[in-house]
Amino acid sequence: MNDAGPDLDTLVSLAKRRGFVWPASEIYGGLAGFYDLGPYGAQLARNIKEAWWNHFVKKRPNIYGLDSAIIQNPKLWEASGHVAGFNDPMVECQKCHTRYRQEQLDTSKPCENCGQTDSFGDSKTFNMMFKTSVGPVKGDDAAAYLRPETAGAIFADFDHVKEVTRAKLPFGIAQIGKAFRNEISPRDFIFRLRELEQMELEYFVYPQHAGQELSNMKQICWDWLTALGLNQANLSWYQHTEDERAHYAVDSWDINYAYPFGQKELWGIANRTDFDLQAHSKASGKELNYFDPETNTHITPYVIEPSIGVERLLLAVLHSAYYEEEVKGEKRVVLKFDAKLAPVQVAVLPLSKTDKLTPLAHQVYQRLNESVDGVVEYDETQSIGRRYRRQDEIGTPKCVTIDFESLNDQQVTIRERDTMEQKRVKIEELSKEVV
Ligand code: GAP
Repeated sequence: MNDAGPDLDTLVSLAKRRGFVWPASEIYGGLAGFYDLGPYGAQLARNIKEAWWNHFVKKRPNIYGLDSAIIQNPKLWEASGHVAGFNDPMVECQKCHTRYRQEQLDTSKPCENCGQTDSFGDSKTFNMMFKTSVGPVKGDDAAAYLRPETAGAIFADFDHVKEVTRAKLPFGIAQIGKAFRNEISPRDFIFRLRELEQMELEYFVYPQHAGQELSNMKQICWDWLTALGLNQANLSWYQHTEDERAHYAVDSWDINYAYPFGQKELWGIANRTDFDLQAHSKASGKELNYFDPETNTHITPYVIEPSIGVERLLLAVLHSAYYEEEVKGEKRVVLKFDAKLAPVQVAVLPLSKTDKLTPLAHQVYQRLNESVDGVVEYDETQSIGRRYRRQDEIGTPKCVTIDFESLNDQQVTIRERDTMEQKRVKIEELSKEVV
């Protein structure tokens, strides 16, 4: 491993070996752009989402949560501009018909799939919306889309949320949920997916405050990432040029992360203006605006939108947490997750599997399971050394070992993941020590 951190193969292999992430339907050869989260990946993703929800929704009095349907009336996506404009330029190899995103392709090189040179045709646009049909009859009347972003329904539900909460500007509507994009060339493990999960906030503000609110939001997002334990040296800002901005934005920034395959977008933060509320008002005939009590007029708020993919963040979290070191001539791999993200908070490990230790070890497990806010794992198979290595590789901050001495003195050993330091504590004081 070099100073830039682990390479992608190392992370992919650990993620699979330890049950974080693997290809969806792998027994059938997988499907490009789709991945399953295993037991530790699912818990890690859940902890990431909970940390986001706590910070951006639960602890903010003017931000409200939403959980909308994935499939909405297709008119929503016509009005938002996605049906006409959610396109990526694509280039196809004329020999094997593999399709590439134009921006990822050097047409002077041979086709990655079949090796043919000079085989690329002209660039075409490709709409990335996943189409489906609703009900038993197929046809244009039944056509619908899997949402390409969670934001769409937030705009369509703007009035409901405003009415039930009696919110005053500025206020936000937030949602975590799946989104689907028929990416031309999904790649880089879980970086570019066809099925992804987004954490999105639409923050409605006075139009004249949008510039300042965007700056504030950028800072809030940056601070949250660093508080999660992401390596600051791997984070940087990138401002989109006019050509790169989405059709709805006037100013867009990315927080890029230095992934093993380069500096890439982790989090997009944009000023979406009043584009969406105006477009949905026009298309639906329902006025989506806000009565400003200060000026006694109706205004259409602007929107500041931070939008981040759970999987891209999970990959950055894994990358930042990964450490290798040599201990007594052996390589130790450890994921130094921030404690609130760790999939397992504490592991209870009796020194060996014997009738003598098991009852006390079960009692310790029970006690911790009741007091620890997170997962407590019990493991009594294999040597204690191998079990420590396993817990290091899934990033468990603390292990509690019960040995034969514990039967006499009612004390156990706590081992710290990062320092490997061990200390003896009384069982009755364990809950205080392991929080
Ligand atoms: N609502 C705004 C929106 O969707 P975006 O920049 O297209 O904007 C927001 O996506 C975030 O969603 C990105 O910053 C990224 O974290 C994540 N994301 C987008 N496309 C993705 C993909 N194909 N695979 C994984 N994550 C993706």
